[in-house]
Amino acid sequence: MKHKNRSALRRAIFASGIAACACALAAPARPWSDAGQSPDARARALVGQLTEAEKFQLIHGVFAQPDQAHNWPMPAGAIGSAGYVPGIPRLDIPGQQQSDAGLGVANPVNVRTGDVATALPSGLATASSWDPQIAFAGGAMIGGEAWHKGFNVMLAGGVDLQRDPRNGRNFEYAGEDPLLAGTLVGETIRGIQSQHVLSTVKHYALNDQETARTTIDVRIGERAMRESDLLAFELAIARGRPGSVMCSYNKVNGDWACENDFLLNQVLKKDWRYPGFVMSDWGATHSAAKAANAGLDQESAAEVFDKEVYFDAPLKQALARGEVSHARLDDMVTRILRSMFAVGLFDHPPQKGPIDADANLAVAQRTLEAGAVLLRNERTLLPLASDLHSIAVIGAHADKGVLAGGGSSMVIPRGGNAVTGLEPATWPGPVTYDPSSPLQAIRAAADHAKVEFASGDDPVAAAALAQQAQVAVVFVQQWAAESFDAADLTLPNKQDALVAAVAKANPRTVVVLETNSPVAMPWLDQVGAVLEAWYPGNAGGQAIANLLFGRVNPSGRLPVTWPRDLSQLPRPQLPGAVAAPGTPPPATVDYGIEGADVGYRWFQRKQLQPLFPFGFGLSYTSFAQTAPQVTVRDGLPQVSVEVRNTGARAGADVVQIYAQLPGNPIRRLAGFAKVTLAPGQARTVEVPLEPCLLSEFDVAKRRWIIRGGSYAIYAGRSATDLSAAVQVKLPAKVP
Ligand code: NOJ
Repeated sequence: MKHKNRSALRRAIFASGIAACACALAAPARPWSDAGQSPDARARALVGQLTEAEKFQLIHGVFAQPDQAHNWPMPAGAIGSAGYVPGIPRLDIPGQQQSDAGLGVANPVNVRTGDVATALPSGLATASSWDPQIAFAGGAMIGGEAWHKGFNVMLAGGVDLQRDPRNGRNFEYAGEDPLLAGTLVGETIRGIQSQHVLSTVKHYALNDQETARTTIDVRIGERAMRESDLLAFELAIARGRPGSVMCSYNKVNGDWACENDFLLNQVLKKDWRYPGFVMSDWGATHSAAKAANAGLDQESAAEVFDKEVYFDAPLKQALARGEVSHARLDDMVTRILRSMFAVGLFDHPPQKGPIDADANLAVAQRTLEAGAVLLRNERTLLPLASDLHSIAVIGAHADKGVLAGGGSSMVIPRGGNAVTGLEPATWPGPVTYDPSSPLQAIRAAADHAKVEFASGDDPVAAAALAQQAQVAVVFVQQWAAESFDAADLTLPNKQDALVAAVAKANPRTVVVLETNSPVAMPWLDQVGAVLEAWYPGNAGGQAIANLLFGRVNPSGRLPVTWPRDLSQLPRPQLPGAVAAPGTPPPATVDYGIEGADVGYRWFQRKQLQPLFPFGFGLSYTSFAQTAPQVTVRDGLPQVSVEVRNTGARAGADVVQIYAQLPGNPIRRLAGFAKVTLAPGQARTVEVPLEPCLLSEFDVAKRRWIIRGGSYAIYAGRSATDLSAAVQVKLPAKVP
């Protein structure tokens, strides 16, 4: 007798009245091993098998590096990086090997063994590409390297909005706009998880400055946060489905983010129906019962970073006292296991193996080629002709490599640090230069030219070199890192004087910026061209040379507004950033000043002219965009724009669609599309609009709502370079 499945067998046995033999009826010994079941079913089946001690093992990660100050050894079983959660072999539950990973697999411990990884350019470079495929490819690259190194959890997917160019971690994030940041970070996460490596969107939420990050209380109204920072998370989570969310260090409206019922339970888990788990940032847990009941599922690296290991004895006591329910403990564990199943940690365990370094370096190179932003190009100084006979290359260690940002995201790059011995030498350093020399790449690109280098330490010598050359290319840098913010927008080490001296000696001066974020450029009018290369990554030198010589046409567009000076910002003084020694850190920061009008929206509200607007970027060709064609289908606008390449080179343009809602004069980005065109080619691009950006958040009803009425739709090439408005009537709707 053949039976399709066990329940059919069971029915047949009962129907025949035969006494059931227990072993014949038993469900498969390990139902959670059945990859055909849903992640939820598998997690539910498995949680029932766990002892309480095992449950506690899964909700508490340990630091995966030795730490002398805390007498903390390297945990047995950990590969070594940011964190480790031991597995449970008797039930085939794999351990969690967690590594930082926003810009590549950070590998701080394994540098001793010579382990390296491919360093991508800044998150802002990926965001500047305005290209979801670039973001996905970067994520897949990171996930693939992680998997081959034995890691299965990446602490990657930084989507805090840029509210201030001084924030030391801007380079880890994706700019000031919720749609652009949420879309591209969501794609990075999707890329990582495509490799069966779980990704962790972070830092939830409103961790938009480093100054006083572990104490500051961010004040902002609910609608404003829902329509700004939380929207970036909402979109990134919907698109990327990360297995985990990392709650941040700061407080939000009075409660620590990692014990914030509103953020974790109400918004994330209830309104967004997030099925994964919340892990704390390293040192961001402050309680047992309160945190667990507010929605924290896993405490990270507590022995080294928290005051107590809250999710051990204190939580056990809270359970015993009934302050936390056993159902909640099971929920915490189920969420962790569910994500591990959903991403494939059980079915596709990492396997150490060779990594295709060339392919991965090519991903890093393409990311910068798509994301570097050409800000200025007078009298078509760029692209440089390959038959130039003399070029002066100056500054920023361009003979050796390109700068990277510091802190936990820092990658020990392929080829090692190109410039050793710079301060700070310890965390958030060492200051690291990825070993991709722009000088060498420029020499290779300009094969007939005499290409000479000056370090820039001596502006007089640099100016003399520039004077003799047909073109001077000056590299300037601004190192930034996790844990502190810049005091202002000025380039360090008197680099402004260097650029001014070089530009005076040779007006055919190109400036290449390697910066965290926008900086002041007092010499801007004196130089011929400026290329923002962010932190350029492991193949940055090659990408920069390709862009300068026109082998690649720049197509990056700013994901941030470039202010003229600090007076234009919502907070000209960043609370506490330059406080005198002994001054207590600021207790609060008021994000209600700009509210949801972050970046370009603030500039519009205040009628300020930035130095360069959000969305801006030049090309070596020119484009024409028609006014948008707008129709309404199912209550939503359908927008198309014809883009034509009107120049003589192939290039890519970004169609940006901004919308103005009834009764709200502030325009917001509602959709975008990047399109590559041959010279003379035209294409009509349909640009999907994100319904949340056509909506208001209704706080009372806790949902997005399209109010209905007359909406103005603009197509444009930046937040200020726009077509005439096309008015469209939309019906009221819950999207
Ligand atoms: C603190 C950082 O804020 C976070 O981004 C990182 O993932 C953890 N440290 C672990 O290194």
